[in-house]
Amino acid sequence: MSQAQAPQSASLFADPAARAAALRAELARLDHAYYVLDAPLVSDADYDTLFRELQALEAAHPELRTPDSPTQRVGGAPLPQFAPVRHAVPMLSIQTETDTTPQGAAAFDQRVRNKLALSADDPPVTYNAELKFDGLAINLRYEHGTLVQAATRGDGETGEDVTQNVRTIRSVPLQLHTTHPPAVLEVRGEVLMKRADFERYNERQRAKGLPTLVNPRNGAAGSIRQLDPTIAAQRPLAFYAYGWGEIVGWVHQPDTYHAMLDALAAMGLPVAEQRVHGPGAQTLIDFHGRIATERDSLPFDIDGVVYKVDSLALQAELGFRNREPVWAVAHKYPAQERSTRVLAIDIQVGRTGKLTPVAKLEPVFVGGVTVTNATLHNEDEVRRKDVRVGDAVIVRRAGDVIPEVVSVLLDQRPANAGQPFDLDKQLGGHCPVCGSAIVREEGEADWRCTGGLFCAAQRKQAILHYASRRAMDIEGLGEKLVDQLVDGGIVNVLPDLYRLGLLKLAALDRMADKSATNLLDALQASKSTTLPRFIYALGIRQVGEATAKELARHFGSLDTLMDASLEQLQAVSDVGPVVARSIRTFFDQPHNREVVEQLRACGVHWDESAPVEAAAPKPLAGKTFVLTGALPTMSREEAKERIEAAGGKVAGSVSKKTDYVVAGAEAGSKLAKAQELGIAVLGQEGLMTLLDHDGAADQGA
Ligand code: IVH
Repeated sequence: MSQAQAPQSASLFADPAARAAALRAELARLDHAYYVLDAPLVSDADYDTLFRELQALEAAHPELRTPDSPTQRVGGAPLPQFAPVRHAVPMLSIQTETDTTPQGAAAFDQRVRNKLALSADDPPVTYNAELKFDGLAINLRYEHGTLVQAATRGDGETGEDVTQNVRTIRSVPLQLHTTHPPAVLEVRGEVLMKRADFERYNERQRAKGLPTLVNPRNGAAGSIRQLDPTIAAQRPLAFYAYGWGEIVGWVHQPDTYHAMLDALAAMGLPVAEQRVHGPGAQTLIDFHGRIATERDSLPFDIDGVVYKVDSLALQAELGFRNREPVWAVAHKYPAQERSTRVLAIDIQVGRTGKLTPVAKLEPVFVGGVTVTNATLHNEDEVRRKDVRVGDAVIVRRAGDVIPEVVSVLLDQRPANAGQPFDLDKQLGGHCPVCGSAIVREEGEADWRCTGGLFCAAQRKQAILHYASRRAMDIEGLGEKLVDQLVDGGIVNVLPDLYRLGLLKLAALDRMADKSATNLLDALQASKSTTLPRFIYALGIRQVGEATAKELARHFGSLDTLMDASLEQLQAVSDVGPVVARSIRTFFDQPHNREVVEQLRACGVHWDESAPVEAAAPKPLAGKTFVLTGALPTMSREEAKERIEAAGGKVAGSVSKKTDYVVAGAEAGSKLAKAQELGIAVLGQEGLMTLLDHDGAADQGA
């Protein structure tokens, strides 16, 4: 960090006005570095020292207090109402391309080319692609370089004067960084709240027992429309420029859109770095695709992307239609969040006995699929979000991960909504499938059924896992069939699979002789397997495919593995204390040893002298992770072990070298730092997805 550049001692300045001006300029420079460039120049303490000196100076000499002083960002007196502002140039909106496929971008290009009467032989049109920010549109009016007014869009013709509130946004320059400012420059853009700031704000509100914001968009819009500017000042907002209104006297004004944004950035205005310009529809399609993958790791929510013709001359030629520019279009992504209602909170039993609360929802179309169930992770999560039967909730589906309930719309809670969630009480202390006692161990997030393989739900999951492609690969042994086999008492333990006969199988529902024969063949074929597959198939908690391979390679025989001590287990690369304990616990159960013996007696065999093929390339090799906050169902130690087992590294602090930050509840400054640096942020599900690429993370359910 360099030093603040304002002269160190006020006494050097006999002239308080000159000192105040120097402090204002220096604080503006530091604000820009911190809030726009994300590159702080001095410590917070140094900044505060300068800030307080200016405050003291202004208190002693009120005539020195200028509207562009950084001290004026904190908000003045409440307003009775907002004054109307008539826009010099109307604030219009843009057309939305509803086709969310790449075709949407091609359609826009075609419309532009048609309107310009270009034939297929003519060269491509140059376009800009940028983000469609999900906030509130604002017009900033600078006169001779000074911010004089900020207004909302309103009906497009007349907005509201929100200058006091917009001043509190630290990334909005109160003074343009140029020696030759245009006489008038209106900058248009979006005010929004970054996700990390939103989370932090809500965290603080919760701690104080005060109301929280529903989402960042409402947070931004609500803050700007606060009559009391001290409230806006407490809510961390950001601004990104994407256009302009009235311009008077700009010498050498650029003639393309991208150069205009570059010029605005040079004047100190925040312009998002995610933008490109280039020829033809392909530029747009590429950007749309790229942002689709980056979307979840952006520091703020977006509503899609926006395409604009780059040449301002062509923009003028294309003009407007129905009060919308022909030269611009918004291109959306399939919605990822929707609201719906909770019909019930069910509790599912996973393979390892984990009890997961699941919201049964009124069906809702989210992100391209109809969702009827969403995970609530665990009891603490349900309580933290206070989800109750009957509630209206926001459901989110990101990528391929399991849909989840994001939040409850508390103001829509019906009078007859259910009671606060209590898993133990709801289940009366017993597993809903087998009636065994349920337990929640100290320090664990999950309740578990203690029934083990006595529990039909766990048995079913264990059988499905055993039969899965990467385990014993028993084709035809699917969910419906396993349900029948277990519910009919035909298969109670894994070895029972090898005792199935044609008669019994063919008697089952929807089971033709042919499929019964095929299944028996598949079962027969599965008996000849490999040691790594067999270890993996046993379904030991924490032992994924990669770990199974390492164990097979290290111990060479199942008997040696079954008798290995904790220390011996930990000598295997990638096996830490958590995994070692889990393996030991598994083989310490007499019934598990019994199952292994019976499977061998049924003819399951492998060649222990066969070399174990090298483990698949580690999917996370070379990737650095930082863990922060509490994950719903994994301890930090566990997450670390699994990342390391997949070849990744876990570091303690976030830096440019971090590839992923895995954030759970109550994530703090590390999450904020990640979002500032634009580092991908994952939740537990996202981490599982990454790990799952080598089958190493199958132990969640
Ligand atoms: S251009 C004349 N660019 O979306 C064109 N708008 O319906 C004016 N928005 O009210 C808009 N990101 O609030 C433009 N990169 C972007 C945008 C953007 C968000 C908002 C804006 C506007 C609405 C358009």
